[in-house]
Parts: sequence; structure tokens; C-alpha cells
Amino acid sequence: MFIIVANWKSQLTFHQALALCEGNLEGYGDLGDAKGIETVICPSFEALHAVALTLQDTAIQVGAQDCSAFKQGAYTGQVTAASLAEVGCTYCIIGHYESRTHLHETDQLVAEKMQQLVTVGIEPILCIGETEQEREAGYTFQALTRQLTAVAQTLASHDQVTICIAYEPIWAIGTGKVAQKSQLTEVFAWLSTTCATLFAEHTVRLLYGGSVTAETAGGIKKIPGVDGLLVGTASLDFKKFEKIVSSCS
Ligand code: 13P
Repeated sequence: MFIIVANWKSQLTFHQALALCEGNLEGYGDLGDAKGIETVICPSFEALHAVALTLQDTAIQVGAQDCSAFKQGAYTGQVTAASLAEVGCTYCIIGHYESRTHLHETDQLVAEKMQQLVTVGIEPILCIGETEQEREAGYTFQALTRQLTAVAQTLASHDQVTICIAYEPIWAIGTGKVAQKSQLTEVFAWLSTTCATLFAEHTVRLLYGGSVTAETAGGIKKIPGVDGLLVGTASLDFKKFEKIVSSCS
């Protein structure tokens, strides 16, 4: 099923996140029932439980935006995968460019987070992407390979799991610049082939993220290999998000 994930980042306070859900509860219910689309909302940690409860009678899934690389224990400030599962998360974003950059996350740390998530049965949404400089220098596929390899090694010994991999070119995040169709066609063809080898034992769903709008969503969905979208800014406005979902169903 095509998947559309809303990443609310740290854009809303606890009350604002709840107000967005409660104020559009019927609408979210309809989005949850949209034909052929699975919709996931990722609020920030403190709002997860309340948002999951508010949306519990809809088919909308709830996801986190990050998780601890450690199991339960003395890790101040960390939120474990097991806790996320208990409050109703079925998905979790990891390795987002903003976490890799602002929190200096390494590929190895992201791989350890993946390990924690698959252990508790949460479907990871692994974000990968190249910088503008890497693209211009012709290093796009080297950058993506580096980000995928650490995770593939972690999953090598694991029983079959399903994971999402979101291709988010860094130059397209929050900039209004969507990658061109020819660029996406090339990257998704490469990702389909590469993931079939690297994650041969597993099921991989490939998502695109970066300045997705209602105007561009339908066209991106048609690109071979694209199984879903990861939406930032446009997911904060219910009407815009609704249009994205309806343009894909
Ligand atoms: P924008 O849709 O605001 O570009 O954000 C994309 C993103 O980072 C989703 O994870």
C-alpha cells in the first residue's frame, strides 16, 4: 500500500499538536480510510501518547521522529523503542538529515537505532540523502551507499523485517526545490536495484521526501519505485495534507 508520512518535526508545541488533531478529527478519519493509502503522523515525543489516543478510532498510524540507540537503562534523556511501542507507535523515523547534522549522528548510531526498532516490532523509516555538494561532485550514489551499508550490516543477522527507506536529498528539504523527475527516476531505479541486493532477506518500501506539496505529490507517486512520501512543511496544514493524500489515492 502507498504510504504517506507526516513529519511534524519540532514545529508544534504539545497543545498545538493536539489542537491540529482534535480540530480535524473527522478529516483525519477520512484520510485514514483513503483508498490504497496508509497514513502515518509523526508528532514530537511529548505529544505521541496524546495524539495516538486522539486518533485511536481512525486508521491513521502514529510514528516517532527518533529513538534511543540503547535498550532500557541509565541513558538520560533517551526514549527507548520499547516505550515508543507501548504508547502506540508503529513507525519511527531515524537518521533524518536534521538529526545527522544538528546532533552529529553517525551511520553507526543510526544502525543501532534500527536494531532497537526492529527488535520491538516498530517499522523504521530510515532517511538517507546527499548534500548539494555531493550531487554536484557526482558523489550521490557513494553517499547513499555509505548510509545504507551500515544499516544493511545490522539487519544481516535479523529475521525478515519490513523497513521504509526515505530518500530525502538534503538540498530539497524545506527549500521548495523538489528533485526533478529525471533525477528521481535515476535515484529510485538505483535504490530498487541496490536495496534488492543489500536487503535481500527483507522487504523495503522506498519513500521520497523534500518539499512535497499537493501540486507535486501525484507526479512523484508515478515515478517507478516510489512507494510513499515523507512530508514536512505541508503536513502541518490539514487542508494541504488532505490534498496530498487525495492526489495520491
Ligand atoms: P519539507 O517537506 O518541509 O521539505 O520537509 C521534508 C522532510 O524533512 C520530511 O522528513
